[in-house]
Amino acid sequence: MTRGIAAAALAAALMAAAPAAQAAEAPVPPDRDWSFEGFFGTYDLASAQRGLQVYLQVCSSCHSMDLVAYRSLTDIGFSDAQVEAIAAQYTVTDGPDDSGEMYTRPAEPPDQFAAPYPNEQAARAANGGALPPDLSVIAQGRPNGPDYIYALLTGYEEAPPDETVPPGQYWNEYFAGHLISMPNMLATSAVEYADGTEATLEQQAWDVTNFLMWAAEPHLEERKQMGVKVMLFLIVFTGLMYAVKRQVWADVH
Ligand code: HEC
Repeated sequence: MTRGIAAAALAAALMAAAPAAQAAEAPVPPDRDWSFEGFFGTYDLASAQRGLQVYLQVCSSCHSMDLVAYRSLTDIGFSDAQVEAIAAQYTVTDGPDDSGEMYTRPAEPPDQFAAPYPNEQAARAANGGALPPDLSVIAQGRPNGPDYIYALLTGYEEAPPDETVPPGQYWNEYFAGHLISMPNMLATSAVEYADGTEATLEQQAWDVTNFLMWAAEPHLEERKQMGVKVMLFLIVFTGLMYAVKRQVWADVH
């Protein structure tokens, strides 16, 4: 009961504080049609592969993806040999060796994605004090994850004339508070796509979002397929039970 009152008091206090917070609140990102949505949704693998390219060539200079191993890239359609070649372009720290020293070596498929900074302090120091979050599960870690990420990446605008943007910050329509410490990284043709797709800003934002969604939910398709199988099973089972029931009661009637 007291907890209830405390919660109500807190809610009231927050409501009172709301006007200030509201001014800085970002709009809800527009709802987009992603291939992975819906009961039968599946990942667009070509897009996820291009998204990997965007992540590796652009985002990975600031953002880690600690929960993703190179070998899981076979899930989005890369062969074992391709995965090996991708991993080999990066360097990871391993060890200690026999003399107690850490050493670096080319990454291998079982390794986690190589991180741009050795620790949080280094990451902040390089980004004007702001921390580029790990992107492994970011597509699940923000409300409307994929819609938000796409909106954020395409949401850089001129600041309204009455707003000042401090050095090292940028105006973004969809970032809470609008002032973000991440520059607009996807200026047209930041990457040249291996598959020849034109790398517009929107295309890159779309592809990297597909990739990040796969990274956050690699088992989404299996879960959905399991759901379909369970539904089919329940339908058949219900029919069977109905037949059994009729059979059992046939003599009674
Ligand atoms: C130059 C460094 C840099 C690069 C490159 C970069 N980011 Fe960021 N990113 C940041 C920083 C710094 C923040 C934290 C911003 C803040 O808190 O103001 C951030 C924040 C984010 C966020 C979280 C926003 C939120 O709601 O908190 C997402 C999502 C994101 N970046 C995605 C990307 C993607 C996708 C790419 C590649 C296309 C990318 N970033 C490239 C520096 C970078």
